[in-house]
Amino acid sequence: MQHEFIELSREDAVGIIRLHRPEAYNALCNGLIAELGQALEALEADDAIGAIVVTGGEKVFAAGADIGEMLEREHAGLFVEDFPFAHGQGWERLARCRKPLIAAVSGYALGGGCEMAMACDIILASETAKFGQPEVKIGTMPGAGGTQRLVRAIGKAKAMELCLSGRTMDAEEAERAGLVCRVVPVEALLEEARALAASIAAHSRPVVMQIRESVNQAFETGLQAGLLFERRAFQGTFDFADRREGMAAFAEKRKPVFRHR
Ligand code: CAA
Repeated sequence: MQHEFIELSREDAVGIIRLHRPEAYNALCNGLIAELGQALEALEADDAIGAIVVTGGEKVFAAGADIGEMLEREHAGLFVEDFPFAHGQGWERLARCRKPLIAAVSGYALGGGCEMAMACDIILASETAKFGQPEVKIGTMPGAGGTQRLVRAIGKAKAMELCLSGRTMDAEEAERAGLVCRVVPVEALLEEARALAASIAAHSRPVVMQIRESVNQAFETGLQAGLLFERRAFQGTFDFADRREGMAAFAEKRKPVFRHR
């Protein structure tokens, strides 16, 4: 399929979605969000794909929702459409994805760009990455998870400061605060993200899915509910042929051969 605002590629078991609207700093217009949703549908439906990388350009991951598109919009219309959710096909499509998602961020990840990265399972940053929720500077507020996921990721004090001041945080600070898993040189970012995705995709798919759902429960629920969810998911892996193979391979001192069952 031809895309206008993104590039979609596959390398072995890794799907790569590149946000590509450089003239507008990858501003997340409705067309880009629709294409992103279609690409995710395609990669999720493809049994050969075990993990997905979402990336942007070297200078910009994404500078947020498209301000030009929002300029004349009013409350009633946004409410009925539930913008930016758009009836399940909007921004939250990333968070609904069941395959592991790695955001590989270079340059600006601001507003909706930061929210999009946070909707992924892991953020890998280059040294030039800059994160922030600058909506306050244009008279509005984060609307796609910024006030919620940022607090859970980096704590109230720093999240409140970023959301209320609109300042950006560099990669080093983001790593210290726990927003990103690692910082790598800009020229190595995509390769590192691809390698991380490939290492995840090499594991048993159903086991990987159980683990990511369990970790996301920790992010989204209280401790008791999360512990119960994790225990049930752990017990559930004992029905998987891959769990039996993994343990048998360990006992027999050989590499496991996972069949994703
Ligand atoms: N929407 C639309 N266009 C944008 C954009 C955005 N969010 N961000 C940048 N652009 C466009 C600019 O209009 C400009 O286009 P032209 O060349 O046609 O004028 C081009 O991208 C380059 O931008 P700048 O000239 O501003 O580049 P800069 O290097 O001086 O600054 C920047 C870069 C700091 C990222 C700055 O562009 C900026 O502050 N952008 C807006 C960031 C922002 O406020 N994001 C939040 C959006 S609201 C949101 O996301 C709500 C939500 O939660 C869902």
